[in-house]
Amino acid sequence: MGKLMMKSSVLDGKEKAQLQVLFVCLGNICRSPLAEGIFRQGLAEAQLADLVAVDSAGTGDWHQGGAPDPRSVETAARHGVDISGQRARQVRIDDYDRYDMIFAMDRSNEATMRARAPSSRHDRIFLFLEHTLGSRADVPDPYHGGAEGFEDVYQLLRQGCTELVSRLGGELRQPRG
Ligand code: 4NP
Repeated sequence: MGKLMMKSSVLDGKEKAQLQVLFVCLGNICRSPLAEGIFRQGLAEAQLADLVAVDSAGTGDWHQGGAPDPRSVETAARHGVDISGQRARQVRIDDYDRYDMIFAMDRSNEATMRARAPSSRHDRIFLFLEHTLGSRADVPDPYHGGAEGFEDVYQLLRQGCTELVSRLGGELRQPRG
């Protein structure tokens, strides 16, 4: 993964994480909380949890401070992932500095993130399925649909996060000079 940037300066400071990852959707109550939870679990299983800091946010502010959608919480729980403690927040301008990799769930989220980003930070923004699975496709917004849409979203996120964790494992465990 050529785009991965190591933060050597951060290693000298208080933060142990070498990489900061942010998942972004529209409301931060359906898709990106699921992505955050699945990715956290994958990192923990790969013994990478201390090396990667993870958060999620929404381009919109409607659900700020709210818990994830109950359908996301229930879908995650069925797969052994607890996202019930997460709280929604809107993307902030300083997220573009803080996060090395910003994963947009769909092309609309990606366009919004690019439009708001300083041009020097555009290379930090990725469409999630394009970067992880090589398909310029959306993780579809399940908010207005039925419960089965959440399972489909879960499966897409699981596949992408498994790939991402596997790649990061190779890069973050490289000996550092
Ligand atoms: P999310 O789903 O972007 O995956 O969190 C949505 C949640 C809420 C709304 C739209 C999408 N909404 O319009 O309130």
